[in-house]
Parts: sequence; structure tokens; C-alpha cells
Amino acid sequence: MPLKHRRRPAFLTVAAVLVAGATAAFLPGSPATASVGPLPSVENFEGSVQLSNGNPGIFAFGADAAHTPALSVVAAPNVAGEGASNHALDMTYNVTGYGGFTQDLTAAQDWSHYGGFSFWVKGSGTGQRIEYEIKDGGSDGEHSELWQAFFTDSSTSWRQIQTPFSAFVRRSDFQPGGGPTDGNLDLVSMWGYAVNVPGNSQGELAFDDFAVYGTAAPKPPKVAASSGTYLVNAGDTAHVPVTLTTSDGQPSTSDASVAWQLTDGTAQAGTDYTAASGTLQFPAGTASGTSETIDVQTLPNSNPSAAKSLTVTLTPTGATLSGNSPQVVINAHGLPYLDSSLPISARVADLMSRMSLADKVGQMTQAERAAVGNGSDIATYRLGSLLSGGGSVPTPNTPTAWADMIDGYQRQALTTPLQIPMIYGIDSVHGDNNLAGATLFPHNVGMGATRDPSLAYEEGQIAATETRATGIPWAFSPCVCVTRDDRWGRAYESYSEDPALVQQMETVINGFQGNGHLDRNTSVLATAKHFLGDGGTKYGTGSNGYPIDQGITYVTPQQLNDLFVGPYKTAVADHVGSIMPSYSSLQILGQDASPIKMHARQDMITGLLKQKLGFQGFVISDYAAIDQISPDYKNDVKIGINAGLDMIMVPNQYVTFENDLTSLVNSGDVPMSRIDDAVRRILTQKFALGLFEHPFADRSNIGTIGSAAHRAVARQAAAESQVLLKNAHNVLPLNRSAKIYVAGSNADDTGNQSGGWTLTWQGQSGTIPGATSILAGMRQDAPNATITYSKDASAPTDGYKYGVVVVGEKPYAEGMGDIGNNGHTFQLSVADRNAVDTVCAAMKCAVLVVSGRPLDITGIVPEADAVVASWLPGSEGEGVADVLFGLRPFTGRLPVTWFKAESQIPINVGDKNYDPLFPYGWGLQTGSDHSQVARARNLAEQAINSPQAMSATASLIADAEHASISGQTAHAVDLLTRARSIALLVS
Ligand code: BGC
Repeated sequence: MPLKHRRRPAFLTVAAVLVAGATAAFLPGSPATASVGPLPSVENFEGSVQLSNGNPGIFAFGADAAHTPALSVVAAPNVAGEGASNHALDMTYNVTGYGGFTQDLTAAQDWSHYGGFSFWVKGSGTGQRIEYEIKDGGSDGEHSELWQAFFTDSSTSWRQIQTPFSAFVRRSDFQPGGGPTDGNLDLVSMWGYAVNVPGNSQGELAFDDFAVYGTAAPKPPKVAASSGTYLVNAGDTAHVPVTLTTSDGQPSTSDASVAWQLTDGTAQAGTDYTAASGTLQFPAGTASGTSETIDVQTLPNSNPSAAKSLTVTLTPTGATLSGNSPQVVINAHGLPYLDSSLPISARVADLMSRMSLADKVGQMTQAERAAVGNGSDIATYRLGSLLSGGGSVPTPNTPTAWADMIDGYQRQALTTPLQIPMIYGIDSVHGDNNLAGATLFPHNVGMGATRDPSLAYEEGQIAATETRATGIPWAFSPCVCVTRDDRWGRAYESYSEDPALVQQMETVINGFQGNGHLDRNTSVLATAKHFLGDGGTKYGTGSNGYPIDQGITYVTPQQLNDLFVGPYKTAVADHVGSIMPSYSSLQILGQDASPIKMHARQDMITGLLKQKLGFQGFVISDYAAIDQISPDYKNDVKIGINAGLDMIMVPNQYVTFENDLTSLVNSGDVPMSRIDDAVRRILTQKFALGLFEHPFADRSNIGTIGSAAHRAVARQAAAESQVLLKNAHNVLPLNRSAKIYVAGSNADDTGNQSGGWTLTWQGQSGTIPGATSILAGMRQDAPNATITYSKDASAPTDGYKYGVVVVGEKPYAEGMGDIGNNGHTFQLSVADRNAVDTVCAAMKCAVLVVSGRPLDITGIVPEADAVVASWLPGSEGEGVADVLFGLRPFTGRLPVTWFKAESQIPINVGDKNYDPLFPYGWGLQTGSDHSQVARARNLAEQAINSPQAMSATASLIADAEHASISGQTAHAVDLLTRARSIALLVS
């Protein structure tokens, strides 16, 4: 699934009955009438019937778990003459509110060459009206437009139901959101079907041979306005092109015309525009794609006014209308909040004085783009913000398609009377990572290893430039999490286990926000996340089905302050524009009786963050996170907003959210002062970003996306993030004309080296557009070397003096990547382990560990001559090659402790009995840093040349690192000097 957390709002159950041994191919239920092309396979319940517990697949749904139909595949000999081995799907039901089953296809199918939809059914003669529906458009079977027909359960024998597509009507009682709302059954993108039994009913039905049948009737051409919305200043003319397209792309075969008429909305003929009507002619033979233009003359008006709109009503003859009749919006003008010379606070105050409660509630609402269909809901529900969750991308995934998409949504927002621009947000967590071709930096754990705050600043600048060039002014980044447990699937989103290092790297915030110049086309609003204690949750307490992610952080007030508050002090001091609370819960020992979800904590969000730390930006809740506060959504809204959440990442049920919040305000359960505070904060950032002056994408920097200049910085970051853990006999750097044997699962996989949050939420193995693998980087850096690549080290190893084995993890994100979940472990794969054994036995070898967290390499270190922690270096594999070949020195240092045994986890700097494989701060240097601490550290590291010496000194090395980062240089040097003396004694 491309998107996350997506499901219909119902309980799903599955009867896990699979048909054994049935292999029949798809057979249409009746002798098929003439059909065109291969018949799209819907389902005949033979073979590997896919009963699943969610989209895609076949699953039952109901208002609650107890009243969800049971599905099973049963023998059904000779239905439609298919022979004795035929099977059918049986559904027994006893439902309350609603229930049924669906088949969501894995990919959309084109049914446009067929005439209708058919299936066989065996009823129980209940007389019930059974509705069935087909699903068009949208992103998947749970976000598409629903079209229904029905049959009556009047017979107990098998019979075929055939329904021409023209007989399906759009469901008026329920649409899931996220599908098109154009009212056209667009058969080219069909996502499946469903059967809905009536509310409060029981019975049993069996189904077989769902199929499409027949031949499509010839289609009339379509006419459409190229955009739904035209914005003009009063007195200007709007030019509205209307375009004719034929279904086969050939010239039209008959005459078509479009009568048009200007219809009053809030704009009135004679006052705001000149009344007009006419007819556009598209005679037979018109080329597909031909446009005719309607001119709408608006009237000058110097009186201050909110925006007003009118409709260009289109009535085609001999053609069908695609989309809605277009709207012309006469821009708001003359109002103080539109005056950019006024201070932001005055503009906000003026604007708020004009806003209704609905406008304000809308500003506090953020919806997922996939939930808003064609976007008209943005205006209807006054949505203040949209987001792309991980992997929620336009097709094609190009900068221009992003900008077009976002501008389209923005145009909808600007049809509202006050024309408050919506703000679009996205997770640019290591570059604009949802965008194909963007520059990808190392994930934060690698950035922490660089110890280079100026590079983090540059990363912020580049990520902001690439993100904003596509029209997105807001990043849900950086994670200022302090990771305290390597099992956490988000460990790589953290700069360090040491809050002092996290704070140092928060220069990225100024990079994102252009040092406060938010209105530049190279800036985005940053988000510090996830407030508070996200990296401190206890293993086994996770929620949402995860072992540790979203779990409970148990801390004393002192620990809370020492470990987790610092990064937010820094973020607030840097004027971060938004802060996102954590899904996790917090129990402050000695203070809280039980754990409390962070999204519900008024003491933390309002008390600590806003009042004590003085945070002036706005608080954006995490994705559907308020849903976890209690079993009652309205109560969640109340608790969350009263706790201090300013904007809610809903992301799908925004209508429910807005209704609930409105009713809570009307009942006094949420004070109006809280709403006003939230809206003031949100609007302040929108003004600061310059969105009122420039609501649409400034595309001038599209050319910099993935540019050589940007990639050069990411390459430098990849190089600086490499941590040399071991380097016996100075095997690294390698000679650039050597004969080198390269192996391992992550040597040539740009997907693996980029990690999660890359193109999709979870990331994926394989090729990332524009990225260079470590192997390719090595070949570029050393064109004179002889490089042999054998992933599994099966190629002969004779004759090679040097080997590089790149092992590690495959991508994951959030709790899906927790150790213990989905098969994630700290162990290398057998293939990687074998590759290390083979190569390291045959030649001098360097092992590179490409991973989001320390892995169990205790058994590997003695085998390998050199070991490098490569983290997740991002798109620029040459950066890794650069240090391997000595084109740049190794300067990286461990941002987290590297455990020796899994039983030690959690293990962190400052622990009692600290005995890691490599301490926090460890990293052999091949460059020349002459600072006092660096010299002392180098001397200490050189003296530590046995496991015993390491055990005896690890805590000194780690404490020295913390001291040095905290500005206690003399203390750091002292600790390192002691470490050296002890190491010399032990060795
Ligand atoms: C994550 C956030 C992210 C949000 C939007 C959530 O699942 O916890 O870090 O910003 O999704 O994609």
C-alpha cells in the first residue's frame, strides 16, 4: 500500500478459508457477449482466493466486530455450468448499522470496454434489498467513488444478476472520501466492488463469478473547462477555455455545442460582472483537444470587499460535461489584512475579526490530500491545511506535477470569501524525500555522526529549497528526538542518544526557515517533533500494535528535563514555526498516577511548551494521533484542543472533526479563547511565510532539485557521516588503482542506503531515481581500479588483495521497523554474514554496515580488518566511496552507543556499568583535526587496542564526548587523557 494507516472506518473480519487444489482460471458467469481485449479478472473464488484483513483483497466489514459478516469459500458445484469443482463465496450476516464484504483490487482496472457488471448469487429468499456497488477513481478501493445498484433476495437458487454500467447510481448515503466527486462513473480506473446488506438484518448469501461483460456503447466526446476555478481582480477579464476531447483521440464524428451562461453566486450581474451568455460550437471533425474561450468581464470596484464568485454554467449538447461548471472568483481587495505593509499581528487581528467559527475551525483542520478528492471540500470545509503522508504523491511524481497539484488545491482555498491560503505540509526528513529525483541526505543518525552543525544548516537550506520549489512551504522536520533504545524503528530519525548533540544539530531549523526569512522561496516552516520523550519509550509498551514505538516513557521530572526538554528549548530559541507532539505516552514518576498520551497533556503542551518555554508557533498533532486518546472521538477532540493542540492532522474524517469541534465550542466545552489562540498562531505563520502575497508555487528553483550543487553537499554529508570503528593495519583508505572485490546486500542498492521515508513511508529496496549506489560511487571515484561486484560473494575470490563488504538493513519506518516486529532483528542476514565470512577469509576486508541503528557485529569485528558504520547515507553513494579511497578523511564519530550484546539494550552514555562494543563518540580519524579534544581523543583511541582496554575506558570516552559537546572542554580532555593512561596500562 502506498499510504499508511488507511482503512475503511469499520471492523474487518476474515474467514481464513482457502480453497485447496482449485486451479480453474477465470470463467465468466454466462457465455460472454462480445468482449474487447482480455476480460479484467474480478473474482470467481477459485484458486488462490485472497481473503485479507484489509485493502487490497476480499474482506468483510461491519459497524462493529460482533456484527461483521463471516466469509468463507464453499463448494458450489455447477453454478453457471462450471463443473463439479466450482466454489463460491458464502457470507452469513447478522449486522446492526451496516455490513457486507468488498473486493479491493491491487491495481485499478480499465472496464471501459465493457457494458456492465455481473455476478451469480444464491439467496435465502428473505426479500431483503441487497445493494452492490462498484468503485471508480481515487487512490485505492477504500478511497474511490461508489456507484450502486441492488437486487432483491427473492430466490433460493442460483441466478445471474447483470447490470449495465449506465444503471449504477452514485451513492448518496455514503462516500468514503478521497475519491473523485465529479459524478462521472469513469470506468478507466476501477478499484473493485462491494456488497452491502441492509442495516439490522440477518441472512446468508452466496456469490460467484463477479465479472464485467458486454461491449461498451460508443462514447460521446467530453467537454471540460481546463481549471475549475479562475481568480481575477475586480475589473479584469477571466478567460475560461472549454476543451473538447474524444474518447479515442480522433476528430469528433458529430456536431457538439456548449451553451454557457454566467450565473450569480456571491457576485451579481450588473454589480460585479457583466451578464453574458452564448454558445460554443464544436462541429463534426473538430480535433480532439480543441478549445474555445469564454470571456467573463468583471467590473471595477474600489470598495473594500471579500472575494465573490459566479459560475459559468455549461450545458453541452452532443457531448458530456466532465467535471463541474467552472467558477470565476473576484479577488478580495482593500481589506487591511491584505495590506502587506501592516505588521503581521495587525493583519492577523483584522482577519480574525472577519472570520466565522466555521472559518476558524477550518484553519485548525489538516486533511490528507488523498482524502479530499478533487479538492472542492477545501472550500466547503474551509480546510486550513493539507498534507502528504509518506508516499502520498501525485502521478507522475515530478516537481511540476507536485506544484500543479498543490496550486490546484490552493486555488480551491482561494475561492472562499476571505481567501485564506491553505498551508501544505510534508515530511522532508532527509531532503524532499517523497519527490522522485530529490537530493537525499543521510538520515539524522548519520547527520549526528558528522558532528557538523553547519552541514545540518546546509541540509535544511537545500531540503527547504527543493521542497518549496514544488509549492510546499512546510516540513514536518526535524525530529529532535533523543533515541534511547536501538530497538526503536525511528532510531535513525534521531541525531543522537545525547540531547546535547541533538541540540547542536538543530542548526537545521535555521536552514529550513532561512534564519527567520520564511517568505523566501528557499525557506519552509520547520517542525520540531515529537514532543516529548518519543525516543524514551519502554520496550513492550508500544501502541498501535508496535513493540516500542508510540509506547510509554517513564521518567522522573529530572530525567525528563535532562534528556528530553533541551532540544525543545533550542527549537523555541530558534523560532521553530511548529511543533508536533508524540504519539507516545508519558508517565512522570512520582507525579502521574498512570501514563498519559502526549497529545492529551495540557501540562506539557500548554504549560511547559507554550507558557514556560515561550513557544510562539503552532502545535500540529500527529497523523490521527488524537484518535488514540480515548475510545470516543469527540472526547479526543475536546481533550486534545484543550491540551493546546492548534491544528489537527485529522487526516481523513475532517467532516466529523469539524462538526465535533464546532459543537464543543457551542456547548462551551472548548472555550472560544482556545480557538482564537490556535487560529492566531496558525495565521501568524501563514503571514510570515508570505502565503497571502504568494499563495502559489514559486517554481523558479525547480531546476535546483537534485542538482549537482545540491548533491555535492549531500555527498559531503554522506562522507562526513562515515564512522571508522576499526582500521587494523590502516587497511583504509584503499588505493584507487587496487583490485577490489565488492560484496554484500547494500553495496548496490540505493533504496536500502536511503532507508525509510524515501518515496514511500516505509521506503523500499531497489533503485531510487537519481541516486548513486556505494558501488557506483566507488567506480566513479576509482576509474583505474579493477572492481568486481558479487553480491553474495559467489564469484571467485582468488587474486584480490582487498574486499569491501557492504551489509546491513533494508528500509523501514516507525513502529513497523521496531526490533521484534515484522521479522526485524539486530542480526545480519545469513547472506550478508556469509559474504563477510567468504571475503574476509580470502583477503583484507572492510565491512560497511548500512543501517539505521547499531547491529550485532560483535562476531564480525574480529574477522574484519576495517569496520565502518555507514548509517543510511542517502542518495549520494560517492560520499561513502570518497572516504574509502581517502579523497576525504574519516571524521565521523558515533552518535549513539554501539552495543556489544543485545541484552545490554537500552545502553546509553552515562549508564552505570557501561561496557559497549564501541562507546558514544568513538570514531577513528584519518584527517587532521588539531583541536585539543581531538588530539586527546586520537591518542586515547590509538591506545585502545584490545577488548579489555575498550571495556576499561569506554565510559571515559563516552563521558568525554558528552562533556565536549556540552562545552566542558577541559573536563573532556581530562577524561580522554585518563582513558589513554588506563588503556596503556591494560594493553
Ligand atoms: C509520523 C510523523 C509524520 C506524520 C506525517 C506520522 O506517522 O509520526 O513523524 O510527520 O506521520 O506523515
